[in-house]
Amino acid sequence: MGLLAAPAVAGPDSDSLVINGELEMVTETAAPEHLDGAVGDTIYSGWRFRTDETQALQLDDFDNPAMLTVDKAIDYFNTVDGSEGKSCASCHEGPEEFAGLTASLPRVEDGKLVVLEDIINGHRAEVMGAEPWKWSGQDMQGMVALIGLQSRGMPVDVKIDGDAAPFWEQGKEMYYTRYGQLELSCANCHEQNYGNMIRADHLSQGQTNGFPVYRLKQAQLISKHNRFRGCIRDTRAETFAEGSDEFRALELYVASRGNGLSIETPAVRQ
Ligand code: HEC
Ligand code: HEC
Repeated sequence: MGLLAAPAVAGPDSDSLVINGELEMVTETAAPEHLDGAVGDTIYSGWRFRTDETQALQLDDFDNPAMLTVDKAIDYFNTVDGSEGKSCASCHEGPEEFAGLTASLPRVEDGKLVVLEDIINGHRAEVMGAEPWKWSGQDMQGMVALIGLQSRGMPVDVKIDGDAAPFWEQGKEMYYTRYGQLELSCANCHEQNYGNMIRADHLSQGQTNGFPVYRLKQAQLISKHNRFRGCIRDTRAETFAEGSDEFRALELYVASRGNGLSIETPAVRQ
């Protein structure tokens, strides 16, 4: 692990996240039992590993740069699109209807593991007659963020047993697979080395409770699958495609490692 300089071990900070002065987030909680102590006793939100300046952007929605894209999604929600002359609002009273949904995704429907992008594009194609959106496009991720925002403050609670079990197992296996020339697994960085610095980055546990996140460096919303791609590419490996079945399974497994943390969507990262 030559990549990881580990002289100054600095864990998560001890700040607490209260949004808009009233919405208190659970940024640390007992690790889910299925982790069997692998990550220690406690799981932490990625927010706890960011600098004060980056953290501050999540404290107030007026300062959160993701909210501009969320506002566009609200406009879109009410805009007719596609051959059927419908908008989302033709059938849904408002995004508030989807409170709790993001906390429970991915989930299995008819034997398929479904994520929010699938639901949104499914509706566009099937009931609106509109072109599907690109997975990591800002229209898609804006809608994913708008729907996620309705679950903000609710605990991540994905189902991992029953018909979800085989997908969860697949995701878990991926999490512990060493990728690329550097032969690094997700666990090598986010389980064994969280709290350490890697180049200029303070490594977190790689949680997804804030996604899509607004990355200041890219000045846009980043999907979970885009983040997974970036992390695998950093090991100098070939990676999977956004929207691939592999990334759906990984999304379920990574979400389950955060069961109990508050949904923070949309979070802000450097
Ligand atoms: C023609 C009517 C219609 C339109 C237009 C429509 N929906 Fe839906 N939507 C439904 C119905 C009916 C359901 C519940 C049954 C289902 O899951 O298919 C639903 C379910 C959903 C769900 C899942 C809720 C849950 O808890 O499982 C989401 C998310 C959603 N819609 C988002 C959207 C968005 C975003 C748009 C616009 C891009 C949209 N819908 C457009 C009829 C519609
Ligand atoms: C070489 C080390 C390394 C590996 C291997 C790695 N990551 Fe990351 N990952 C990072 C760094 C650095 C960041 C940015 C700092 C942070 O949030 O931890 C990051 C960020 C993330 C984030 C965003 C966390 C947040 O709160 O914004 C997620 C999710 C993530 N990684 C998942 C994964 C998954 C899943 C894998 C395995 C496919 C993986 N990573 C492999 C280094 C790595």
